Amino acid sequence: MTEDIKESFEKTRIAGSLAAGALDEVNKIVRPGISTEEIDNLCYEFINDHGAYSAPLFYRGFPKSCCTSTNHVVCHGIPSKKVLKDGDILNVDVTAFKDGWHGDTSRMFEVGEISIKAKKLIETTYEAMMKAIRILKEDVQLGDIGSTIQLHVESKGCSVVQDFCGHGIGQTFHKEPNILHYGKKQTGEKVKEGMIFTIEPMINLGNYETKILSDGWTAVTKDKSLSAQFEHTVGITKEGYEIFTQSKS
Ligand code: MF3
Ligand code: CO
Ligand code: CO
Repeated sequence: MTEDIKESFEKTRIAGSLAAGALDEVNKIVRPGISTEEIDNLCYEFINDHGAYSAPLFYRGFPKSCCTSTNHVVCHGIPSKKVLKDGDILNVDVTAFKDGWHGDTSRMFEVGEISIKAKKLIETTYEAMMKAIRILKEDVQLGDIGSTIQLHVESKGCSVVQDFCGHGIGQTFHKEPNILHYGKKQTGEKVKEGMIFTIEPMINLGNYETKILSDGWTAVTKDKSLSAQFEHTVGITKEGYEIFTQSKS
């Protein structure tokens, strides 16, 4: 591994663990009655207190420090005064920018008691992301990542959102390549040692189609079915991969 790659991994490890740490803090306060704005404030404070910036804040005009996406919201939900209620499922997506490098991660949170089908959706989404991560090493093709996710998700009767994808990340928040969460095995670009990107599948209980609300950000399922997402930032090595956004708790 070159010195450049070592340095980029070290910096991403720091930004990534900060982003994961913010979600660990969110986990302590999620409950019915709390607003998504309170979650946003916590992320903002935690990341700032650790000498970093929240990359989403003012990114292409996004108004908040994290994305909070509940129930049928697929991604890019905007934190607001709206309070969480018993039975909601929530994705919180945070990106820390520290010392010139980004770490991007999201997780699902259960608010109070959630339905069995919601639990199954969350479990399927997490498994799909982890299955795709576990195949990573130099020369794996991008189509192998997509097809691993799609096969798993469709075997469980759920669908893969196609309108949003994972992305290269580093000194820039979003860069090439696009990481599609569906596709065909043995197609596409080969990943190389030192590449850093996100895998962040959005999975719906119903149809895969989405639309954007009039705020210009909030993406929802067209059929109003529940949607879940997890995201890790990963780096490719000759023999495998490193997850930079693993929770410590
Ligand atoms: N964190 C999101 C991602 O995974 C991007 C959010 S951009 C924002 O790529 F502007 F909506 F915050
Ligand atoms: Co991302
Ligand atoms: Co993200």
